[in-house]
Amino acid sequence: MADEPIHEDPRQQRPTGSGLGEMEGRISRFAELIEHPIPLMFIDSPLPHHQRLNYAVIGDTASENPNFSPMITTPHGFQIGMVKAEPGCGPAYHTHDYIECFVPLTDHKWRFYWGPEEDTVTHEATIEKWDLISLPPKLWRGFEVAEGEDGPAWLFAVLEPHDVFAFKDPYWSPYVVKAAERQGYVADESGKMVKTPDDAAALEQEILKRIGSSR
Ligand SMILES: [Fe+2]
Repeated sequence: MADEPIHEDPRQQRPTGSGLGEMEGRISRFAELIEHPIPLMFIDSPLPHHQRLNYAVIGDTASENPNFSPMITTPHGFQIGMVKAEPGCGPAYHTHDYIECFVPLTDHKWRFYWGPEEDTVTHEATIEKWDLISLPPKLWRGFEVAEGEDGPAWLFAVLEPHDVFAFKDPYWSPYVVKAAERQGYVADESGKMVKTPDDAAALEQEILKRIGSSR
């Protein structure tokens, strides 16, 4: 009888190669991610109650600000981002052509509100750490760290894949577009932020200092 091949438990083996091999570029370390916050990722980011920090982990994460690169750029069948915000703050009323899911990562309540039209809210729900909310395409939605919480809070986001700078994305409520325009922020029909005011860099620093100073 031929000798049976000897199967050694892989868990017990010491790797034969050095470095990460084909896994190179496929680990996003939080310690590095936190050094790459994006304070003005969208036209609503400068507005009161909507200031926050966005982080691009995989893919483009639906940004209107073209001046950044995600931690992992290998194409995936989904996109991942993270958001850090203070109580009473979060993305303004908007929608997408694709699903987005969110999971709170910290001990904070997040209030989500939504409706069928660009300026009408019909429902809301509050979710907590480890809960997941899946928002369908076309539904108008806004969300924020619930008032009264001790911030800042973190949120994990998973988005369906979508083309970048090919169409409006996100679609903002007209209220948001006007408010952003008044502050000098405009996105074009391809979903790219094309106009920022002279004081944008100063505001970025202010937001970074306020929200980015702690984990
Ligand atoms: Fe969104």
